[in-house]
Amino acid sequence: MHDTDGAPDRSLPDGVGGGDARAPVYPDALVCEVETATGASLRIRPIRTTDGPALTEFHRSLSDRSVYRRFFFVHPALSDVEVEHFTHVDYAERLALVAEDEGRIVAVARYERTPGTSDAEVAFVVTDAYQGVGIGPLLLAQLATAARDRGITTFTAETLAENTAMLAVFRRSGFPVATTTEFDTVCLRFPIDGAVGEHPG
Ligand SMILES: CC(C)(COP(=O)(O)OP(=O)(O)OC[C@H]1O[C@@H](n2cnc3c(N)ncnc32)[C@H](O)[C@@H]1OP(=O)(O)O)[C@@H](O)C(=O)NCCC(=O)NCCS
Repeated sequence: MHDTDGAPDRSLPDGVGGGDARAPVYPDALVCEVETATGASLRIRPIRTTDGPALTEFHRSLSDRSVYRRFFFVHPALSDVEVEHFTHVDYAERLALVAEDEGRIVAVARYERTPGTSDAEVAFVVTDAYQGVGIGPLLLAQLATAARDRGITTFTAETLAENTAMLAVFRRSGFPVATTTEFDTVCLRFPIDGAVGEHPG
């Protein structure tokens, strides 16, 4: 992953990611309450620098299969460097949203801008017990809204070809998703202008 923390973004709205690059402004406007397909209420909020222990615990809660699908290798525990990287974002070039159920992280979605472009690569992971109730699509919608406001025009992603759950989330998003397949990996690319659902399937 590219670490572009601290890079100023002149296209940012007021109060987002500007100022002291070592202490980005927390984007409170991105905090929202959502409801899953089963009626559970979750809070979606930007990740905080203090989320390290919760993120470590979240990662430990994932099945081997979910970790493999997210990272493409066996990776039972996050290193300290990874925890630092994942929790310290500038909310502009790099942004992560967590979904919480009663204060416990149950899902994470993030984007990272490809340097020098208006593209950003995205990744999602929902803890196993919460998969299949629509959290991935909710996070994709919120992430796209936040990214658009920060000058991102296109999302890219790589997913294993056997990962039908992730592919379903992208294909049903309403965004016009283009795919190419290389060996066992599907590369996806889609513009995020317009709200989710505005594009015909
Ligand atoms: C991929 C992922 C983010 C999708 O999020 P989600 O909240 O589960 O998405 P949805 O609830 O919309 O489910 C999407 C589809 O996958 C199916 N699905 C989700 N989790 C499933 C599971 N564990 N087993 C079988 N099917 C599953 C759902 O039933 C749904 O299909 P359907 O509409 O035909 O029923 C989530 O399953 C996940 O975190 N997986 C492990 C990590 C991963 O694959 N990350 C992607 C890296 S880019």
